[in-house]
Amino acid sequence: MQDLNSRYGLNQAHSEVVKACEIIAPCDAFDMGCSSGRNALYLSQLGFKVTAVDANPQAIATLQSIIRQESIDTITPRVYDIQQARIDADYGLIVCTVTLMFIDPSRVEAVLSDMRRRTLAGGYNLIVCAMDTADYPCPMNFPFTLAPGELSSHYQDWDLVNYNEDLGTMHNGAELQFATLLARKPG
Ligand SMILES: C[S@@+](CC[C@H](N)C(=O)[O-])C[C@H]1O[C@@H](n2cnc3c(N)ncnc32)[C@H](O)[C@@H]1O
Repeated sequence: MQDLNSRYGLNQAHSEVVKACEIIAPCDAFDMGCSSGRNALYLSQLGFKVTAVDANPQAIATLQSIIRQESIDTITPRVYDIQQARIDADYGLIVCTVTLMFIDPSRVEAVLSDMRRRTLAGGYNLIVCAMDTADYPCPMNFPFTLAPGELSSHYQDWDLVNYNEDLGTMHNGAELQFATLLARKPG
């Protein structure tokens, strides 16, 4: 059977989402900056119940149209600016892949703190975000980039299941470091 992402011309789920799902049992999940829903659709097919938010109403409309056509009742798409740092409920998994670098740097601390607070004990945060380092200055004009060690410093009292600052490639071939964090809240 063709997977949903291919059927609607979406990229496959982020590889870190796929990897995280090897160890995280289906639960209530919150997808921050979901775009047209490549990760939300993948999660829902595995049995997660997903609230998927994005600041772009067109992206949310696309996801809404897909879930209507497929009669999916386990994804709730919503237009929401993550910079508000007011997540509406507690979740077992909060995903934020390649989205944090688009927000106002002055809101990053509040956004990360909201994510940690709104995660259930024993639940997970998965974050992938661009970095700007001496070895690999970020070639993209993102409003926000992470410094070495910065992301993990926000999760000092959580279990770091996976953390790296590996080199990655943008769609346009540009090389930069990305911080990847999968952390589990104690409890
Ligand atoms: C590069 S895409 C990543 C989409 C998705 N997370 C993924 O892994 O495919 C970044 C997304 O973040 C969304 N975004 C940017 N700033 C946002 C904000 N302040 N609040 C919510 N979504 C935002 C954009 O609209 C876009 O859909």
